[in-house]
This record gives sequence, C-alpha cells and structure tokens, in this order.
Amino acid sequence: MKTARNSIKYALISGLMLALSPALFAADIEAGEVKATTCLGCHGIVNYNNVYPVYKVPKIGGQNEQYLVSALQAYKSGERSHATMQAQAASMSDADIADVAAWFASLK
Ligand code: HEC
Repeated sequence: MKTARNSIKYALISGLMLALSPALFAADIEAGEVKATTCLGCHGIVNYNNVYPVYKVPKIGGQNEQYLVSALQAYKSGERSHATMQAQAASMSDADIADVAAWFASLK
C-alpha cells in the first residue's frame, strides 16, 4: 500500500515538475557533470563497472530526468527517507538538482 501511494505521489510530483521545470530553470548538463562527482563514488563510474553488485545502490545513469529530479526533491524535503541520500540532497539547490539530473539522464 505504502509503495502504491508513493508511486502515485511521485507520478504527481513528476508531472508537476515536468510542467514547471522548463520555465523555472534550464538544466545545464555540463555543470551537472561537475556537480555529480561526489555521486559517482556510490552510483558508479561512467564507462566503468558499477559498484552495484557490491553495495546495493540504484543505477541512476540513463534514468528518466524528471524521475531523478523528483527523487532528489523527495530526499531533500524528507518525504523520502534515506539518511545518506537526504544528506546528499540537503546541500543541493533546485538548480543543482536539475543539472545533476540532466547529466545522469544523458548517460547511456
Ligand atoms: C554514500 C553513497 C551515496 C552517495 C555519495 C550518493 N548516493 Fe544516491 N543513493 C544511495 C543509496 C544507498 C540509494 C538508495 C536509497 C533508497 O533506498 O532510497 C540512493 C538513491 C538515489 C536516488 C534514487 C534512485 C531511485 O531509483 O529511486 C537518486 C536519484 C540518487 N541516489 C541520486 C544521487 C545523486 C544525484 C548523488 C550526488 C549528489 C548521490 N545520489 C550520491 C547512495 C549514495
């Protein structure tokens, strides 16, 4: 039940972000690459083996951009709980989140 409710919530948030984001901020993929440096320690290195089998971390490269934005916003607001990711997201501005999400989404 909780998962279903969360999915609906994320879907709504994603829809809202999708509607608002182009007007609010133009994501900068290159800036996102720089800002994402710390993320790679856990979320895998581009063109390199992912740390996934060793330490259970979701693969976010190539993930949908709006999904990444809403996941990070949910950690930042505390709506989605995970100590590590809340700490990561807490220090990110909306522009940081948009840039980093654009960069991860651009990965194949
Ligand atoms: C210390 C390790 C670590 C670092 C550094 C880290 N993450 Fe994470 N991240 C995780 C773990 C573990 C999860 C799974 C958390 C959960 O179950 O909610 C996660 C989850 C996520 C998710 C949700 C993925 C999904 O499928 O729902 C996103 C998006 C994400 N991280 C983005 C980032 C970004 C962007 C950065 C850099 C600013 C970052 N992470 C840095 C460990 C890390």
